[in-house]
Amino acid sequence: MDRSHRTNPCIGRPLRIGEVELSTNLLLAPVAGYCDLAWRVVCREQGGVGLACTDLLSPQGLLRGTAHSLDLAMTNDFDRPLGMQLYGGDGGILAEGALWAVRHGATVIDINMGCPVDKVTKKDGGSKLMCDLARTVSIAERVTGEVGRATKGRVPVTAKMRLGWSCGDLAAPELAVRLARVGIAAVTVHGRYAAQHFKGEACLDGIKAVVEAMRAEPVPVPVIGNGDVVNGAAAVKMMSRTGCDGVMIGRGSFSRPWVFREAWAAQRGDLIAEPSEAEKIAVIRRYFGLMLEYRDERYALTNIRRRISWLGKALGPCKPMKERVRLAATAAEVWAALDEFESGGLRMFESDREEAEAIA
Ligand SMILES: Cc1cc2nc3c(=O)[nH]c(=O)nc-3n(C[C@H](O)[C@H](O)[C@H](O)COP(=O)(O)O)c2cc1C
Repeated sequence: MDRSHRTNPCIGRPLRIGEVELSTNLLLAPVAGYCDLAWRVVCREQGGVGLACTDLLSPQGLLRGTAHSLDLAMTNDFDRPLGMQLYGGDGGILAEGALWAVRHGATVIDINMGCPVDKVTKKDGGSKLMCDLARTVSIAERVTGEVGRATKGRVPVTAKMRLGWSCGDLAAPELAVRLARVGIAAVTVHGRYAAQHFKGEACLDGIKAVVEAMRAEPVPVPVIGNGDVVNGAAAVKMMSRTGCDGVMIGRGSFSRPWVFREAWAAQRGDLIAEPSEAEKIAVIRRYFGLMLEYRDERYALTNIRRRISWLGKALGPCKPMKERVRLAATAAEVWAALDEFESGGLRMFESDREEAEAIA
């Protein structure tokens, strides 16, 4: 095991955010279009998830009750504890949206300070909040104040940020400590600059700089490291190298929703077996079934077609099965493709088989 393992006492320790005690220190990231209710429940059922988060939500959309925003905020009793993430650049509207979220099941409110997408930054939200720190701190203070008063401190407000806006302009350490001083209960840091979008590797030193700045505060709050964690070893590395209190995982869960269980076991020095093929197919079935249950056939088909490439990555050769699922016109065709795969079919196209045999 990594010798630095013992240098971070948070390894293997459940995380507490404000008044909320999590069962682990691992969080499912907000990933627009990928962390709907069905997916959050699938990840939770696999174990190890301490907190899961919604997609980023528009407070205006929630307050107006637009169908799209309400669908994104859909939750149920299996989906706890839940972070609801809001974006925007107006403290008053964010605070109102946060109170809506509290009334509709949020255990934690998160403010998005990291999204680099134009649609969000043009409205002064997302990573634009990393440009004018004084303004951002006053926005956060408005939200923590109103949520704190309304819930008597029961619902913590957190922030998710990048390292800064432009490459090399490290704003996160200063922003994080200033946010903690106005009541933000934890910060998540994705170790890239907004200008990078998703290019390059997540910078662990940048996250470490936030942890060190926070530790120097009289009342530090947890720092959650995020970026490129795809397995248990990477989660332990994130914690060892940065000293962070917890780890958030996004893309690494798309094909391996059991990554949280694996990462929690790894923190305790345990290795868990990779799930069997039957278990992996059961995960796909469960996701598809929950989408049908929570939404409808059209929604389930759209999403399984979009997600089958990710889900298939954990399965070995399965191109024909993925193609069948992508072309499926009904739920019955998706179930049939999974059944056929499970009974040994749909592994390789004939042309691929001939090529493989020719190479062998
Ligand atoms: C398609 C996509 C959508 C995302 N949507 C959000 C979002 O709604 N809110 C947010 O804070 N971060 C969002 N992110 C960033 C992720 O939460 C996370 O910070 C990033 O993917 C790095 O973590 P990972 O390497 O574990 O995926 C998104 C990322 C991707 C790839």
